[in-house]
Amino acid sequence: MKKKFTALLLDWNKRFNKRIMPWKGEKDPFKIWLSEIILQQTRVEQGLLYYEKFVKAFSDIHQLANALDAEVFKLWEGLGYYSRCKNLLFTARHISSKMSGIFPTNYSHLLQLKGVGPYTAAAIASFAYNLPHAVVDGNVYRVLSRFFGIDVPIDSNDGRKLFNDLAHECLDLKDTAAYNQAIMDFGATVCKPQIPLCNTCILKNHCKAVKNGWVNELPVKEKQLQKAKRYLYYFVFTCNKQVLVNQRMGKGIWENLYEFYLYETPREVHWNNEMVQKWLNHQLGVSVFGRLKISTVVKQHLTHQSLRGQFITVELEKIPKSLQHLLKVDIKNIYELAFPKFIHHFFLETDAFTQSN
Ligand code: ADE
Ligand code: SF4
Repeated sequence: MKKKFTALLLDWNKRFNKRIMPWKGEKDPFKIWLSEIILQQTRVEQGLLYYEKFVKAFSDIHQLANALDAEVFKLWEGLGYYSRCKNLLFTARHISSKMSGIFPTNYSHLLQLKGVGPYTAAAIASFAYNLPHAVVDGNVYRVLSRFFGIDVPIDSNDGRKLFNDLAHECLDLKDTAAYNQAIMDFGATVCKPQIPLCNTCILKNHCKAVKNGWVNELPVKEKQLQKAKRYLYYFVFTCNKQVLVNQRMGKGIWENLYEFYLYETPREVHWNNEMVQKWLNHQLGVSVFGRLKISTVVKQHLTHQSLRGQFITVELEKIPKSLQHLLKVDIKNIYELAFPKFIHHFFLETDAFTQSN
């Protein structure tokens, strides 16, 4: 059964896998590492652009290591999960200065790098060095649980061990790089989360999920993640062709990034012009202002929280005391700062400042 799975998967890969990606077949561990960090929490289509930007800007680990933080964060802007970017820089500098720029060449040493977990270590070990480590991620859980008809929850201890062992037993030792890339591509393009292409799948005659009618039940998860809801209302204050921003301090997902004046609440607020006026007056002592614009609701889903919010643009005649701690930035320079993805989308979708300027 396992041999059959591997043979069918490799056959699919050879005959039908049409997925083209710039890092495919890549042997340079620097580029593989870079692509895998970008893809950790990002869809391939979006990751592609960023990967291209990064390899264009930095052709080896030393160049990345020597770059300014601000430059790297700017390139990362819009990708989200900024701890990845911080770890990327940390690890580049570590390898550049402490390891003469040479990437670790085995799994356990790769695993010691900051930002590199079992999945990424297995990907680098197999893609760069053809070592016998199977990648295990959401794609792999889904494909294996369906093909072998396994309903053990993938987020239980038993499940993790079972699927990890099974993944290694299915691994093709002759070409671990091709096998690992194949199972990911198969999971992403054929055995997809919603509406997998079972009808034309060349594995279907041997697939337990199809045989038993379990395709939509698998994989099984023990707990559906309870996400915290956060409501973020950003006031975009402008005054004399300048905009007020704040640089986030302290720990957290957006450390060091810029943002607008933030009003965060645990409950949704249904803003209208009158409420905004009242709020500005009561909270900030602002009673005179020009144009006022309330954006539509923006949403973003993260692993442990879901964000919702709005952008309320307010043209001020002068800057009140309550806002004087903020930085004043010329509107024409606003695009040089790095903002969280949540805010970046607001710029992209509304062309927030290009029209009025
Ligand atoms: N997701 C993570 N790594 C990937 C890769 N190498 N190819 C496609 N999708 C991926
Ligand atoms: Fe996945 Fe359907 Fe193919 Fe089975 S037949 S491996 S469920 S796509």
